[in-house]
Amino acid sequence: MSKLEYISYFRPEIDNMGGYTPGEQPKMANLLKLNTNESPFPPSPSVAETLKNFDCEKLRLYPDPTADEVREIIAGMFGLTKDYVIAGNGSDDILTISMRCFASADKPAACLWPSYSLYPTLAGLQGAECIKINLTENFELPVDLLAQAKNANILFIARPNAPIGNSFPRALMAEICREFKGIVLIDEAYVDFATDSCVDFVKEFPNVIISRTFSKSRNLAGLRFGFALANPKIIEGMMKMKDSYNVPMLTQAVAAATLRDPAYFADCVAKIRLAREMLLLGLYDLGFKVVESETNFLFASPPDGDGERYFRALREQGIIVRYFPGPATGKWVRITIGDTQSVARIFLATREIYKEYGQDVYEL
Ligand SMILES: Cc1ncc(COP(=O)(O)O)c(C=O)c1O
Repeated sequence: MSKLEYISYFRPEIDNMGGYTPGEQPKMANLLKLNTNESPFPPSPSVAETLKNFDCEKLRLYPDPTADEVREIIAGMFGLTKDYVIAGNGSDDILTISMRCFASADKPAACLWPSYSLYPTLAGLQGAECIKINLTENFELPVDLLAQAKNANILFIARPNAPIGNSFPRALMAEICREFKGIVLIDEAYVDFATDSCVDFVKEFPNVIISRTFSKSRNLAGLRFGFALANPKIIEGMMKMKDSYNVPMLTQAVAAATLRDPAYFADCVAKIRLAREMLLLGLYDLGFKVVESETNFLFASPPDGDGERYFRALREQGIIVRYFPGPATGKWVRITIGDTQSVARIFLATREIYKEYGQDVYEL
């Protein structure tokens, strides 16, 4: 064997996996970036104010390991105490902590499919099997979900689901939480754009974790802040698993500041909902299939059913959306909802691409 020959020191499961592919962060002129469900709006003015007044001298010290100030505010928002809350470096951190706590080589995880592709990746890193439970053709929960998930120790359900955008009935969710023998992690990354939440389940069910993020509705994807709510016994165990100082001091300060400005948050969410309805109607008029969305994105299939062609044609015009190849998703693209100007731009570009299919074209 030559000295230069590479010998892998990695666990085989790491060598054998591709790793997670994050959405592109392209740098191009005249870019309209609608591929990673970020907000088109800046963070609350209270964030800039906090950063301006931040005492840099404090960065000498480690941050509060348990992020108590912001956990206290979050707990208050939901009528809970802070022992129901854990803070994370983005909600991906919460998902990682949960996978590490509840999945292993002999404790499989389960998730719906299609859904957030980080779940199977995290299971793979953990050396755990991930049971993928296919949604129905209309992206609903299958009737035998519990039977399919029965060997799993943790079941991930994004509600509303990504990249599809639809939600699942609360009554069904309650039944799943009641019947499932392991942890049910309900990923509510997009819930602020939805009609309801399952957040109250944490009081009712000892096996439920709700995860949330500030990356979407709070316009703070660059900050990396997320949190989970669960029974204090679950939170106590998750605290053992997290990195000691998993949430930086600046992140904690900014997260607290944004929560002190609920009016700005409500205004941004209302604007996204309005823009979402405009684009939905526009795409319907161009002959698209569009899933009724409870998120800040639309899952849309063009009239010729060729998601990849639509993705590429938009890209030529500097509009980046997300395409997920594969039998269940290849006919679709996922479009992040921006402000009304970006809705107008993608609509006009789409109308041009599909002009032969247009019906009563909806004027923006
Ligand atoms: C369903 C879902 N959960 C979690 C996340 C991660 O969010 P965060 O930025 O808080 O890590 C995303 C990001 O796109 C997501 O789509």
